[in-house]
Amino acid sequence: MPIKPSAITERVKPFRLVKYFTFTSLVLVFLGTLMLSILNTHWARTLLRQKSEAYSRLLVENLNHQVFIQFILPVAVRYGQIELRREEQAERMDKVVRSTLHSFQVEMVNIYDRAGTIAYSFDESRVGVTDAGGRELAAALAGETTIRLVQRGNWLRIFLGIPEESRLVTFAPLRAERPLSTLSGPVLGAVEITQDISDDYRAIFDFQVSVIYTSTGVMGLLLVIMIFVVRRGEHIIEQRNQERLRLKEELSRAAHLASLGEMIAAVSHEIRNPLGIIRSSAELLKKKLAGTTQSTAIADIIVEEATRLNGIITDFLNYARPAEPHLIPCQVEKVLEKAITNLAPELEARNSVIENRLPPSLPTLQADADMLYQAFLNLLLNALQAMPTGGKIEVAARVENAAVEISIQDQGEGLPEEVLAKIWDPFFTTKERGTGLGLGIVRKVIEAHQGDIRLENRPEGGARAVIRLPAKAAEPPDTHVAS
Ligand SMILES: Nc1ncnc2c1ncn2[C@@H]1O[C@H](COP(=O)(O)OP(=O)(O)OP(=O)(O)O)[C@@H](O)[C@H]1O
Ligand SMILES: [Mg+2]
Repeated sequence: MPIKPSAITERVKPFRLVKYFTFTSLVLVFLGTLMLSILNTHWARTLLRQKSEAYSRLLVENLNHQVFIQFILPVAVRYGQIELRREEQAERMDKVVRSTLHSFQVEMVNIYDRAGTIAYSFDESRVGVTDAGGRELAAALAGETTIRLVQRGNWLRIFLGIPEESRLVTFAPLRAERPLSTLSGPVLGAVEITQDISDDYRAIFDFQVSVIYTSTGVMGLLLVIMIFVVRRGEHIIEQRNQERLRLKEELSRAAHLASLGEMIAAVSHEIRNPLGIIRSSAELLKKKLAGTTQSTAIADIIVEEATRLNGIITDFLNYARPAEPHLIPCQVEKVLEKAITNLAPELEARNSVIENRLPPSLPTLQADADMLYQAFLNLLLNALQAMPTGGKIEVAARVENAAVEISIQDQGEGLPEEVLAKIWDPFFTTKERGTGLGLGIVRKVIEAHQGDIRLENRPEGGARAVIRLPAKAAEPPDTHVAS
């Protein structure tokens, strides 16, 4: 029974499940990687902030120390009073601050006096400004250090972690130092330092982007590979199904033909006996009529048609129940010559000739001469029938690769594509009075001899039948027996 198309799609389905599963896992892995990269960068930013803050504290402590040692103490000793309005003092302070911070990325330094007025600044124009520090300044003057992250940019940039600018602003008390002690002296003022950490934030974001790019690339590649694998798998499954379908159909056709053959064989067998009686009766009738004045034309037709019908039935029987070949040493060229000779009257009637190009002797084959004769006759008749207005048939043979290769070629109309595709189908014929069994019988005969046959068009027009019969079973030359 042929398989319905729905059966194929059902078989492909489990594979589709694998496809969806793989695709979903890819998407999940991708989302997971994305989440991981977001968490990772968040953690990196937190770490960056903590490190920057710790670093800032150290910086401020160091600045406090240097300012106290290198500025406050010497100035107090020399001038008795700290007055940053005096140029020498301001210059000295500037030198101390800049030499302390010169290798650090500090954008702005403001030093406030105890009243909250800017006594020193990187930006000279700010000196003398009061109330610039706000609550953090007040806290610093009260002895407390505060560190604040100031970010600028629209909300999306801040949300994504790429603000236009990121600054760390530190307010710390400026203390007097007691000898050999940590900074625990009285508060003399306050220090404000501003560090630009935009580049660090940008580096983290760039890293995140490269992680996302890489994972997208890898996922994309995996997806492409997966699609390729899936396509290939589906193609293979599809091909297997087609093949199964073809084999099933072939099997059912073979079974069908086998039963048809059985039936034909049985019917043909039963027809043959009455047909024989009809023919011999008609021949008898002919003989009787021959002695009278009456015409024998009708009896002639009966004999002729009964003979033709007998031929058709013989073909059917040969096709349906091919005999086992009786293999004996055989000269294949002799068999061919016999067929050519027997066709002489037919050739003359059809205005055709056979050019015998057979070599004088070929290796002896183990073959059934009667069966081969039947096969060659069928091929020669086909060639003859392909040339309705007459022509030349060439018969040749040669030895090649331990086989005898025989070719029969004609100058007929050749085989159109659609005919060539069907010539081996039983009952396929393009002739009005053909059975379409001739080539089928030929093939069975050749295959029974472990040979093969092909039909092809000649480049110069006409058809060519090429038969190969293995020569390996040949007898030694001194035991040659002509058939
Ligand atoms: N030499 C050829 N040139 C052109 N067509 C050919 C040739 N040999 C065979 N064919 C084509 O193949 C068909 C099948 O050939 P096959 O011998 O099986 O049957 P048939 O000749 O039609 O009938 P039957 O042999 O029973 O008289 C032919 O009808 C013809 O169309
Ligand atoms: Mg034929």
